Amino acid sequence: MSDVSRRVALVTGAGSGIGRATALEFARGGAAVAVLDIDESTAAGTAEMIRNAGGQALSGTVDIADERSVRAAVERTVTAYGGLDCAVNNAGVASHHRQLDRMTLDEFERVVRVNLAGTFLCMKYELPALQSRGGGAIVNIASNGGLYAIPHAPAYVAAKHGIVGLTKVAAVDYAPDGIRVNAVCPGPTRTPGFEKVAAGTDMVATQEAITPLGRLATPQEAAAAAVWLCSDAASYVTGIALSVDGGRRA
Ligand SMILES: NC(=O)c1ccc[n+]([C@@H]2O[C@H](COP(=O)([O-])OP(=O)(O)OC[C@H]3O[C@@H](n4cnc5c(N)ncnc54)[C@H](O)[C@@H]3O)[C@@H](O)[C@H]2O)c1
Repeated sequence: MSDVSRRVALVTGAGSGIGRATALEFARGGAAVAVLDIDESTAAGTAEMIRNAGGQALSGTVDIADERSVRAAVERTVTAYGGLDCAVNNAGVASHHRQLDRMTLDEFERVVRVNLAGTFLCMKYELPALQSRGGGAIVNIASNGGLYAIPHAPAYVAAKHGIVGLTKVAAVDYAPDGIRVNAVCPGPTRTPGFEKVAAGTDMVATQEAITPLGRLATPQEAAAAAVWLCSDAASYVTGIALSVDGGRRA
């Protein structure tokens, strides 16, 4: 477990899957956590899990694709806890599996709007909060699809490559402010979101067969990497895209 005691952490998409596991991991490491999700009740559920385990959490709604909503969520966090030290921008959506020429512009724009512009908006309001604290860390949850192609996922792969690009530029631009910015690139991970996409397909068996470790990731495995990157144990790590993929990239 990474030591993030006395830190204030914000996690988007924290009502489910990797986001929920990340919020729980932050709390276990001693951080106060702002649990944010577009779904109010699942966010509240995560915050309750943290408080029941003796941790500190508040929950709130955010739509990362909406600038006013993001600004308000960051402001609420800073007001409630007196500042912000770490943010994990995890919220994202899957796309329809379709080759590019069969994808509508609406679908392309929806996926890029939430995944890429949404991550941009979160960083836009988190970075000044971290600057006024004198430093901090951001982790963006990209995907192995941010590093290489996933067949039939042009919008998702373009958005996730974009997140890796945003991460690198911010790492360079904000290093003088003591702010580290990294990406985590999970391979297939057994979350509610993944189970929905995989339902009725042979995706689990297919993915297991091509993964050197022979199984899919748990949400906790991606979460542990994200919280480690936010901790002082990763104090010289910035601008990387860390695969958590059971050896797939190798
Ligand atoms: N599960 C995987 O196999 C996998 C692999 C690689 C990358 N990822 C990435 O990890 C992240 C989390 O995925 P997951 O599998 O845990 O998903 P999930 O569907 O289980 O959870 C996603 C959460 O994000 C929230 N959300 C969706 N749109 C939002 C918005 N506009 N504003 C705020 N919250 C919103 C949802 O309500 C949900 O609680 C995503 O960015 C996803 O692309 C997942």
